[in-house]
Amino acid sequence: MELKSAVLAVAALCLALALLLPRVALSQRLATADAPAPAPAPRHVDLAELLSLAGPYGTFLGYLTKTGVITTFQSQANDTAAGAPGVTVFAPEDSAFAAVGGGAALSNLTADQLRTLMLCHGVPRYHPLSSFSALAASGPAPTFAGGQQYAVNVTDAAGTVRIQSGWATAKLVSSVYSTSPVAVYALNRVLLPEQIFPTAPKVAPVPAPAPAPVHGDKANDGAPGAGEHGASDVKSSSCRVGAGRLLAILAVMRV
Ligand SMILES: *[C@@H]1O[C@H](CO)[C@@H](O)[C@H](O)[C@H]1NC(C)=O
Ligand SMILES: *[C@@H]1O[C@H](CO)[C@@H](O)[C@H](O)[C@H]1NC(C)=O
Ligand SMILES: *[C@@H]1O[C@H](CO)[C@@H](O)[C@H](O)[C@H]1NC(C)=O
Repeated sequence: MELKSAVLAVAALCLALALLLPRVALSQRLATADAPAPAPAPRHVDLAELLSLAGPYGTFLGYLTKTGVITTFQSQANDTAAGAPGVTVFAPEDSAFAAVGGGAALSNLTADQLRTLMLCHGVPRYHPLSSFSALAASGPAPTFAGGQQYAVNVTDAAGTVRIQSGWATAKLVSSVYSTSPVAVYALNRVLLPEQIFPTAPKVAPVPAPAPAPVHGDKANDGAPGAGEHGASDVKSSSCRVGAGRLLAILAVMRV
C-alpha cells in the first residue's frame, strides 16, 4: 500500500517534470537565441507616416493625399489577416518628380488621370525583394489602376531591379520598408504610362543616387524564424507524447 503511493508520488513528480522541463528549456532557449523570434504578428503600418518620415517622398505623398489614393493603398495595408494579398508601393523620390519639370508634366493632367497615375505606383500584392526575379519572369504586374495597359514591367538584371511603364524605366534604388503585408520601395523615376502621356514628357536626367542597401531587408524575407518555429513544435509534441506515456503508466498502476 505504502509502496504503491510512493511509486505514484514519484510518477506524478516525473509527470510534472516531463511537462515543465521542456517548457523551461524552450523558454531559456528562446531568451538566449540569437535568431529573431518566430513569426511576429504583422504590425500596423501607417503609409503616410512612413513616407513622411522615411525620406524624400514628400511630393509623392502630396499627390497620394490629393488624389485620395493614399486611402486605397492604406486600406490594403490594413488587411493584415493571414493570406491577405498585401500591398507593394513604388515611391518615386522627390528628385524624380523634379525631373519631370517639377511636376509640370503632371500639372496638365485631369484629376482622373492624376489619380490613375498614382494608382499605377502600387501593386495590390506584397512583393518582398526576393520575389522580384520571379516577378520579372512572370510578365507584366497589374497595378491598382487595373487593366493590362497599366501593368508595369519588372526586370531584374543581377539584382538591379527596374520598373518599366510607358516612357519611364525606373530603377528600384532602395527598400524603404518590407514586412508582410506591406512593401515600399524607392524609385528614381516617376512611372509614365502611355495611356496617360500620349507623347513623351520632357524628363531631366536624374543625378546618380547614393548607393542604397537594396537588399537590406533580406532578413525580412522568407520568414527566417520558420525553421526554428517548426523545430520547437516538433519538440513540444514529442514532450506531449512523453507525458502521455507517463499518464498511461499511472493509469495502469491504479488498476
Ligand atoms: C487603417 O487602420 C487604422 C488603424 O486601425 C485606421 O485608423 C485607419 O482609418 C485605417 N485606414 C483605412 C484606409 O482603412
Ligand atoms: C500643358 O498644356 C499647355 C496647353 O495645352 C501646353 O502649352 C503646355 O506645354 C503643357 N505643359 C506640359 C508640361 O505638358
Ligand atoms: C511591357 O513589355 C512589353 C514587351 O516588351 C511591351 O509590349 C509593353 O508595352 C510593356 N508594358 C509597359 C507598361 O511598359
